[in-house]
Amino acid sequence: MKKLLGVIFGSIVMNAWALDAISLEKQYATQANQASSLARGEKFFQSKHGKDWSCASCHKSPPTSDGQHASTNKTIAPLAPAFNTKRFTDEAKVNKWFKRNCNDVLGRECTPLEKADVMAYLNSLKK
Ligand code: HEC
Repeated sequence: MKKLLGVIFGSIVMNAWALDAISLEKQYATQANQASSLARGEKFFQSKHGKDWSCASCHKSPPTSDGQHASTNKTIAPLAPAFNTKRFTDEAKVNKWFKRNCNDVLGRECTPLEKADVMAYLNSLKK
């Protein structure tokens, strides 16, 4: 019984914290105090920003199938959430990789608006 209650409570807590790609887009747009733009996000994702890589260098364009890491050649599962249900479900993972990848591509962290735009682009990709 105790175990069962633990499972039930655990799943309620998990649900309350569960992240998804649509609410993440809204969250960033709210932080930016500006509406997200699919077109801007697509351009941002495909462009280089003064350094060697674009987001697409590792995640492909469109990021709907396996990508390949530009320096290690490791396979990277699709980034678009409709093609990979694990994407944008773990806030710590999302934050860690946005930070790391934006630094690699732009030499700084992405702004909330840039992240909102990228999410608008990724959310627009459907099967
Ligand atoms: C040098 C290769 C590389 C580049 C360039 C790159 N990424 Fe990534 N990205 C990765 C790897 C590796 C992971 C972690 C492995 C995985 O999740 O498949 C990752 C994971 C992510 C995640 C985590 C998503 C989740 O919930 O699982 C996000 C968000 C992300 N990248 C966004 C971006 C954006 C935006 C750009 C461009 C600014 C970008 N990436 C550029 C390699 C790259």
